[in-house]
Amino acid sequence: MKTHPVAHLTHGPATSRIDGIAKVTGRADYSADAVPEGLAHAVLVGATIARGKIASIDTAAALAAPGVLAVLTHANAPKMKKAAAFPLGASGHRRRPFLDEEIHYRGQHIAAVVAVSLEAARHGASLVRVTYRDETPPAATLATGDVQRMASMGFMAKALSEDTQRGEPDSALASAPLVIEAVYTTPRHYHAAMEPHATLAWWEGEDRLSVREGSQWVDGAQDVLANWFGLKRDDVRLISSFVGGGFGSRVNIYPHAAIAAMASRVVGRPVKLVLSRSQVFLAVGNRPATRQRLRLGADAQGKLSALIHETANETSRDALYGEPGSRSSHATYAVANYRAENSVAELDISPPGWMRAPGEAPGSFAVESALDELAAKAGTDPLALRLLNHVDSDPHSGKPWSSRKLKEAYAAGAEAIGWSRRSAEPRSRREGHEWIGLGMATASYPTRSFPSEARVGVSREGRVFVESRGVDIGQGTYTAMAIVAAEVLGVSPSLVDVRLGDTRYPRSAMAGGSMLSQSLGDAVHGAAVELREKLLDLARRTKGSSLQGKERAALGVRDGRVVSLDAPTVGLDFAAVVSTQGEAGLSVTYHSLPTMVSRIIGSKAFTSAAGVRVQTAGDSSIHSWGAQFAEVAVDEELGIIRVRRMVGAFDCGRILNPKTARSQMIGGMTMGLGMALLEAGHVDPRTAQLVNGDLGEYLVPVHADVPEIEVLFVGEPDPSNALGIKSVGEIGITGVAAAIANAVYNATGRRLRELPLQLRTS
Ligand code: MOS
Repeated sequence: MKTHPVAHLTHGPATSRIDGIAKVTGRADYSADAVPEGLAHAVLVGATIARGKIASIDTAAALAAPGVLAVLTHANAPKMKKAAAFPLGASGHRRRPFLDEEIHYRGQHIAAVVAVSLEAARHGASLVRVTYRDETPPAATLATGDVQRMASMGFMAKALSEDTQRGEPDSALASAPLVIEAVYTTPRHYHAAMEPHATLAWWEGEDRLSVREGSQWVDGAQDVLANWFGLKRDDVRLISSFVGGGFGSRVNIYPHAAIAAMASRVVGRPVKLVLSRSQVFLAVGNRPATRQRLRLGADAQGKLSALIHETANETSRDALYGEPGSRSSHATYAVANYRAENSVAELDISPPGWMRAPGEAPGSFAVESALDELAAKAGTDPLALRLLNHVDSDPHSGKPWSSRKLKEAYAAGAEAIGWSRRSAEPRSRREGHEWIGLGMATASYPTRSFPSEARVGVSREGRVFVESRGVDIGQGTYTAMAIVAAEVLGVSPSLVDVRLGDTRYPRSAMAGGSMLSQSLGDAVHGAAVELREKLLDLARRTKGSSLQGKERAALGVRDGRVVSLDAPTVGLDFAAVVSTQGEAGLSVTYHSLPTMVSRIIGSKAFTSAAGVRVQTAGDSSIHSWGAQFAEVAVDEELGIIRVRRMVGAFDCGRILNPKTARSQMIGGMTMGLGMALLEAGHVDPRTAQLVNGDLGEYLVPVHADVPEIEVLFVGEPDPSNALGIKSVGEIGITGVAAAIANAVYNATGRRLRELPLQLRTS
């Protein structure tokens, strides 16, 4: 794979994961790895109808089976309280498990068998007999569902809806010389994180609960579990040291975790509950199917005058979830007359939720495909069309961009893919039996920040440490936070001990919404700066030391020592500086936004809307930007689409760690490739049964599908935070499916508006 030199010296050092060795040697302990004394296992039983009621559950045979300790159902499960603390909009699955006999979706957890071994629990689960009554034919697909405007559906729907308007879109559309009107659809998408979701739960007495669960947000999980079981929040401990992928599926804590906790209470032992891969498809949220209607009005060259974006997505009758594709259209381009309308269809399906750039991923497929259609109609190069509609400030909020190197991203990506080789005429470049095409799309993702805390210190031994609840779900938080502290404290990142993902540490933003690095980075930076001051001050006051009595301005930190700047060989190592500080060493806890900490984190009012507000709070509108390019080859006889090359050029501000950031982008772009060509949940409309709910039949890209991917970073430090960074992660998937669809159009002259892209020769 080709690599480019890092474009700006301001980026951080390309650093290998500090947790990498632990991960590849098996020392990293994931939630299900521990085997505590007396461990019991729980296995779930799922409903086999989509809508109706449980008539009876016969658990006698299961209870009589060897090793079975208990069977929990709605008839005997301990009662749970309602959780007020779910992040609004993240996902459904608010329903408490085993609450009553109602069945809301096929696969809903209706019983759990707890036994001394996994085998005994599985066997027991196979013996549970369930009968149903009042079974009703389900509404199972967006195409057959009753689609309603969210704005007409009551308070919750209004709060989640992102309907908005500016100017006069209808009249502007009516008078536009060029009009594009098209409908784009995306299917149901499912999480495929490497680590299936798993909970290990145990109690100390009646009122202290500990849970090990791979989580993107232990803060939120702690709140929800405390609510559910009527506990004080500090009596619930969440541990999430290593997580095998999140992508939205671990923002919430789900019913299976509650079941593990209630099972542990009932049998008086630690209980481990690991979802099977098929259960993961139904129990942790997924991206709902979407249908988006785009109407674009433009002048003869393709300069936009109107854009109307109507989105609809499926949701569960049990839990409202919006997937607003309009996030990709409301601010990216200069269009004075704009409207977004969001709708949902309530179905008898498991609750959808956040997944891989919710909103932007399907939204960018529709918007960036429609712009390609407009470019073709106007006879304008698709990249030139983006430049024609480039906008120098946020047309949605009216605020200037904090920084926007989008033109630079277009230029760098075009150069790398060889855009100038693109033939304007579709179906005009052929190699053997394949048609070749190039396509592009804009990528964008907001930069949200959320108040966070971190403790940074120096131990008795002189080691720098960082502690926070923020989680590393694989994206590199351990390493990124080590880099931030190391830079301020003058040590190598490999010498920083980073401890994360445990509610014993200070509170943090979620590892979601691409917000953690800037949110937690801010706190780690603030703590490290204060700590450095304290170290310098202590060094000056250390009796008999070479630094005693020196001016503050004459001191600095180098290689784990406080030194005299004019003679850096003169100094005191950190261990000596903190030697007077007692067992715990010296540490500083820093709150990134004290007022918001008390107002938002301290209350239960976290909402996705709060995150969105933060992104445009203050004087500027803060987003990461990028350009996606793809080259495809389409087999003439078979219609098979292969992606031959992908280039993503991104402005994510200053890059803390170019090595792991590049990996995140490759991951996101690979997910975009999967979205474009492979991923689709297929549903039997008669039964609401997901027919490909496992990794054998739900297709995700494997190595043989993934071509050379080139990642370029073109950003400069963003003025919105001390570290100069913007969101990295979710932007990687945005625009990819459109770039590939647009390349297929360029290759073949066929416009595909339905994902996954499929060409049939008939
Ligand atoms: Mo992301 S879908 O908010 O983890």
